[in-house]
Amino acid sequence: MSVLSGKKIILGISGGIAAYKTATLVRLLIKAGAQVQVIMTPASKDFVTPLTLSTLSKNPVYSSFFNEEDDPSHKGEQAKQNAQWNNHVDFALWADLMLIAPATANTLSKMVNGNCDNLLIATYLSAKCPVYFAPAMDLDMYKHPSTLASFRSLRDFGNIIIPAESGELASGLSGEGRMAEPENIVAFLEKDLESKLPLKGKKILVTAGPTYEAIDPVRFIGNHSTGKMGFDIAKAAANSGAEVILVSGPTHLQLNNSLVRVERVTSAQQMFEVCHNHFNNVDVTIAAAAVADYRPKNVAAQKIKKNDAAFTIELEKTQDILASLGAIKKNQFLIGFALETENEIEHAKQKIQKKNLDLIVLNSLNDQGAGFGKSTNKVTFIDKDFVIEPMDLKSKEDVAQDIINKIIEHYA
Ligand code: CTP
Repeated sequence: MSVLSGKKIILGISGGIAAYKTATLVRLLIKAGAQVQVIMTPASKDFVTPLTLSTLSKNPVYSSFFNEEDDPSHKGEQAKQNAQWNNHVDFALWADLMLIAPATANTLSKMVNGNCDNLLIATYLSAKCPVYFAPAMDLDMYKHPSTLASFRSLRDFGNIIIPAESGELASGLSGEGRMAEPENIVAFLEKDLESKLPLKGKKILVTAGPTYEAIDPVRFIGNHSTGKMGFDIAKAAANSGAEVILVSGPTHLQLNNSLVRVERVTSAQQMFEVCHNHFNNVDVTIAAAAVADYRPKNVAAQKIKKNDAAFTIELEKTQDILASLGAIKKNQFLIGFALETENEIEHAKQKIQKKNLDLIVLNSLNDQGAGFGKSTNKVTFIDKDFVIEPMDLKSKEDVAQDIINKIIEHYA
């Protein structure tokens, strides 16, 4: 999955011949899963039509401060009265990133000087998100001291340049100045965003799902855990740039993400072994699995027949995976879950100490919306200093993000 997936992107298009390539650029951004809002300078509309870009971006395209001017079917006096202000501040605050491509010499100069005579520059000046710009101009313009000065100033402002490429130019000359190809712009954005993800370089071990403890070849003791919480945590960790090892008990859930390696296990003993294989090489461990506390002491080699009126299974304790990791941990940040029905805070605090945790995520079954098989969860964070932070009822995805935010805070 692309790091651009779900990102809200403003694509600002200024008036150069390279604007014709923005149709492809919009398609690639949409294909990567981004939401795209196109804002054009008036001059750019001579090179590519707003209709093309609104069709590809699945969004209206704006180029002026009033949308009456953007929509040719709404001309006239009444329309003028009804005309709505295209709020550049709203656009700017909506965006996760702004990309100005092509960025002409004229637009670059306006960006440097705050010459705010169109919607694109007004939006740029209001943007708090990272701004990337892909210059496009003829080779002598690209080398001109004023262009170079614009690049320097824009870099100093914190903007990121996507350098122009060399090749044949619209003038017929050949040299540096061609806007980077749309594929290269998208690759540049992905690489840059990935390098800045908050958990880049961190390795995280996550356990998920139930465990099945065999009684005989066809029966087992299990529980109702779906694994959703652990899978959502693994996904959120990967979205923050971490490399994830997801050790999952039996579940139908799948996770296809190049940063997540899923290791499937069945029993508590298998989960214990896989976790210990990885523990020394990880920075963080999150134990979200609902591991069986007991297993049959003897597993029948053949299917047990119903010969007797009553039947007893002798159980023995499984190993507590989390506690065993807590006992050997060095610098690893260790997060456990606690599911409690009474005296919740007290029990959770005891688990922090007993299992040597840095943070516990407490679920109380007394809270509506918490527990197995639900898409929501209501948790309370308690850290090793017993600082208690109750959270609202949220989707499991949002709870997963809250847990990842705690890890990001820890490393900040
Ligand atoms: N856990 C584990 N291995 C086990 C049992 C539990 O790793 N054999 C982990 C769970 O993944 C969870 C945490 O321990 O993160 C808490 O599990 P829980 O069952 O609530 O607590 P227990 O310590 O088993 O205590 P009790 O069941 O008595 O409440």
